[in-house]
Amino acid sequence: MSDDVLIVSGGSPLKGEVRVRGAKNLVSKAMVATVLGESPSRMYDVPRIRDVEIVRGLLELHGVKVTNGDLDGELRFDPSNVERAGIDEINVHAGSSRIPILLCGPLLHRLGHAFIPDLGGCHIGPRPIDYHLEALRRFGAVVDKTPEGLHLSAPDGLHGIKYELDYPSVGATEQILLTAVRAEGVTELSNAAVEPEIIDLICILQKMGAIIKVHTNRVIEIQGVPRLGGFSHRPIPDRIEAASWASAALATRGDITVKGARQADMTTYLNVFRSIGGEFEIDDNPVDGGIRFWHPGGDLRPVALETDVHPGFMTDWQQPLVVALTQANGLSVVHETVYEKRFGYTSALNQMGAHIQVFQDCLGGTPCRFGRMGFRHSAVIAGPAKLHATDLVIPDLRAGFSHLIAALAAEGTSRVHGVDLINRGYEDFEAKLAGLGATVSR
Ligand code: EPZ
Repeated sequence: MSDDVLIVSGGSPLKGEVRVRGAKNLVSKAMVATVLGESPSRMYDVPRIRDVEIVRGLLELHGVKVTNGDLDGELRFDPSNVERAGIDEINVHAGSSRIPILLCGPLLHRLGHAFIPDLGGCHIGPRPIDYHLEALRRFGAVVDKTPEGLHLSAPDGLHGIKYELDYPSVGATEQILLTAVRAEGVTELSNAAVEPEIIDLICILQKMGAIIKVHTNRVIEIQGVPRLGGFSHRPIPDRIEAASWASAALATRGDITVKGARQADMTTYLNVFRSIGGEFEIDDNPVDGGIRFWHPGGDLRPVALETDVHPGFMTDWQQPLVVALTQANGLSVVHETVYEKRFGYTSALNQMGAHIQVFQDCLGGTPCRFGRMGFRHSAVIAGPAKLHATDLVIPDLRAGFSHLIAALAAEGTSRVHGVDLINRGYEDFEAKLAGLGATVSR
């Protein structure tokens, strides 16, 4: 039997407590930022997940010394000897993550050259990098696309730019921040993404010596500085993982306290959770606080929602919540406006007894970029549906977690294949599931 299969006996409510640590989508970028500094950095509360291991491997290849600190979850980075890495060694990481693209600016500043392997990440659409490359070229980088990957150089240095993103892309905003902080002159970025993870990255860069102003209307102004130091930082908690457990509580009629979850990062999710009929209680204690999420019994209510950039409803909250919506009494409508192909996972839920139909139309308040382009990016979920066990194959990280929740909500024993993918973003998820009373085994 393959080790990458989880046997899940579903049908019982998940009850208990889990803890979330630093946000995957901040920690991995903060690790990249360490390369920009000329002195060591330190980060706390880093989750043990595959994406962190991948970025650690890439940093080590480039001469950054990464060591575990004294505290659980503490990592230390010494970037004093950043050096070029071999293409073959870097290419070992090809296809494993999208983070390497963010090394462009930091490596150009430190070495004058960067090599970026083919990117990976979840299969939720084409996920182009055109904004990244266009901005880098405007900063002065020369980008050479070869079959082995991207070679970048900056023969005349990197200079500040005035740039407007077509769409507030998280990655492109991070790319521009990580490049502009040490470019010569001022960069003005319009239509920037302002997700809490980006604001936390700005806090880190400020600790390193950067000068960054966040204006109203998605404008960020960065005054380049010639040199940056290290930082010491405790990252914001993982609001995607927190919402995943909250949705699991709702879908299984359970009661889960997510220690470390923070209300400020999750207000949009909490509004939807409450509209559906879920209940929550917030404990603000900075040391041991969190949010308790529970199903109060009775029927859940359907909802209409659109995913969007911050402060909208996160696209990564969508898949786990849809599993809970299969249990709501009536028709729910979800319009996905961030990724064009993020409903592929619903066919597996339908095999389990859910009634989810996906449409090419924009079934939401306003038409999005994907309207009339033939992408099935809206879903109508009819509930409540009795889910039954089946064999599932995990397609990507967030969809994978939603498959897992569906298996836990379904009567009977499911075999979930490809579960190791979940380790990319959910620390110790099997131990956490066991702690919540789930019956899971390899
Ligand atoms: C980040 O991806 C996250 N990943 C994603 O989480 C998250 O879903 C996404 O932001 C949106 O919040 C990480 O932080 C590692 P984008 P990113 O650039 O930065 C289009 C997870 O499971 N676009 O904001 O890659 C793109 O195709 C992952 O943790 C371009 O067209 O997302 C998409 O439609 C999944 N050209 C939209 O913008 C570009 O050059 C938003 O993507 C770049 C993006």
